[in-house]
Amino acid sequence: MTNIKRFITAMAAMGILTSASLQAAAADGLEINHLGVNNTLVRVEGGDQFLMLPVQENIDDARINVLVDGKIAETIYVRLAKSKTDFMVPYDLSPYKGKEVILDIVTPQGRSSVREAKEDACWKGMELVDPFVMPDTEKKYRPLFHHAPLYGWMNDPNGMFYKDGVWHLYYQYNPYGSKWQNMTWGHSTSTDLINWEHQPEAIRPDGLGSIFSGSSVIDHEGTAGFGKDAVVALYTSAGTSQMQSLAHSLDGGRTFVKYPGNPVITLESEARDPNMFWNDVTKEWNLVLAHALDHEMLFFTSPDLKTWTLQSAFGKGEGSQDGVWECPDLFKLPVDGTGEEKWVLICNINPGGPFGGSAVQYFVGDWDGKTFKADTDAEGKVPTKWLDYGKDNYALVSWSDAPDGRRTAIGWMSNWQYAADVPTMQFRSANTLPREIGLFKGPDGQIYASSAPSPELTAMRGRLALSKGSVKAGKNPVSFALPSENSGICEILLDIDGGSKEDVTLTLSNKAGNKVDMVYDAGKHTMSFDRRESGIVDFSENFPVVTVSPTFESNGRISLRIFIDRASIEVFGNGGEFVMTNLVFPTEPYSTLSVSSLGGKAKISNLKIYSLKQS
Ligand code: FRU
Repeated sequence: MTNIKRFITAMAAMGILTSASLQAAAADGLEINHLGVNNTLVRVEGGDQFLMLPVQENIDDARINVLVDGKIAETIYVRLAKSKTDFMVPYDLSPYKGKEVILDIVTPQGRSSVREAKEDACWKGMELVDPFVMPDTEKKYRPLFHHAPLYGWMNDPNGMFYKDGVWHLYYQYNPYGSKWQNMTWGHSTSTDLINWEHQPEAIRPDGLGSIFSGSSVIDHEGTAGFGKDAVVALYTSAGTSQMQSLAHSLDGGRTFVKYPGNPVITLESEARDPNMFWNDVTKEWNLVLAHALDHEMLFFTSPDLKTWTLQSAFGKGEGSQDGVWECPDLFKLPVDGTGEEKWVLICNINPGGPFGGSAVQYFVGDWDGKTFKADTDAEGKVPTKWLDYGKDNYALVSWSDAPDGRRTAIGWMSNWQYAADVPTMQFRSANTLPREIGLFKGPDGQIYASSAPSPELTAMRGRLALSKGSVKAGKNPVSFALPSENSGICEILLDIDGGSKEDVTLTLSNKAGNKVDMVYDAGKHTMSFDRRESGIVDFSENFPVVTVSPTFESNGRISLRIFIDRASIEVFGNGGEFVMTNLVFPTEPYSTLSVSSLGGKAKISNLKIYSLKQS
């Protein structure tokens, strides 16, 4: 490693560097050499410190080859700041302790001379720190009780498992910016599904590609040869093509060792997001893989998680075919009140959702360990079913080995249509609340999946800000103040009896004129959510919409639980039989709930509002 300080001093003594350019040259411990208009080398010593990289949001990525011992250790893509720094991201130098690290940086086109390239804001802003401090600059929209990364971009949750009292949540993560790139498995843990601890990244890109979505299982019997109770992950290596790769962890999911025989599944066309589980009946591993562009799911079996045999496919021509099929899940559940059990096949789809963009589609049917057969409706057709009638629940999958036979699931609370444009920058985005998936028989005799808030969430209840046995709501709205502590973060509960045709409107509003209207139409058995005037909506033409959900009841009665957490509203109806998850960006917190009913005949009761807190 060059002694950088000595190098700069010597140059200055020789009169080569002016004091201004000296300052521009580098922070302590860095040597920056511009090699051309778009190519710069940054030299630094590996060790227990972080190289802070200045990022500018709306420019193109620079490609950085990280060279160690003359080899490319990894390649990352970062929007290195050109004219201004929007935020900083840390690059961890600890894997390269005692070695010289050279960042070979190719910046995007657009500089006309080396002199101009030298002026890029990133060169002056890079610095070495230990530890790094990440200022929370976006409190306004940072959720209190939803999982969100500290910084960087997040999409799908994946690879989740529960072990020894800990819920492990992995997610599609870009640690170097707030747009999709550098896909890595980020990792967070929780013992209560409310308080999340950020952990070091779990699986990073390698020569086979970046690390796309997948799943993890606990190999209780050690079938893969990694030992009993090893955590085994299967993910998509996304390089030139998509392949499936294996990794295992012997420290409870904190660090993973990649399998030297990777990839373990290759196909002739795009396939991703492997989701596997142990089949207790057939005593082998089962796997669902999204055959994305073919709009179908492929099913495999394996004795040892390493060798997989293709058994069948499901989906061609079924359900929504308007987008790629991604992020599958497959599990068995009892059907509420029937004594029957059914299988649920989750097929996330993008675009093609009921309100545009991405959404969670599912099928109910039977699975014999090799083939999935979907239930049909009265006309013999396979119905298209949606798990969430909001716009912001995607890539929902469930935890392996959840306790007490629970089927706990979580989604990415955004939509591919505008996820990269939402008005946050330091982090994008959050997960939905965790949900318990169940099955129930709808009024049409079909079996549907419900998703109820996980029971742990009641522990967040703080002050009971309002409790009303019954509410007289006529044409003129009656209004109630929402709690003002914690930016109005709260849970609202109420029951509505709309009789045979009543129209009941719940409005959340603030003094800035932002509002959300939620209308229950007892006659049509629907509930709508209008966020067209909810706050900042103009960052995408696809954001200001009204979403509408069937309420799956036939008696005009619904019970609602509504969670508001700064930039999201989740409406759970009738114990999760209908759900709407929608993002909102109010310019100030909603402060009022108003209730009205068109005919003045609706009975509204058991209205409770709790402020919410994290323990
Ligand atoms: C779904 C998805 C997956 C893929 C991942 C990449 O949102 O497209 O199919 O594995 O995102 O980040």
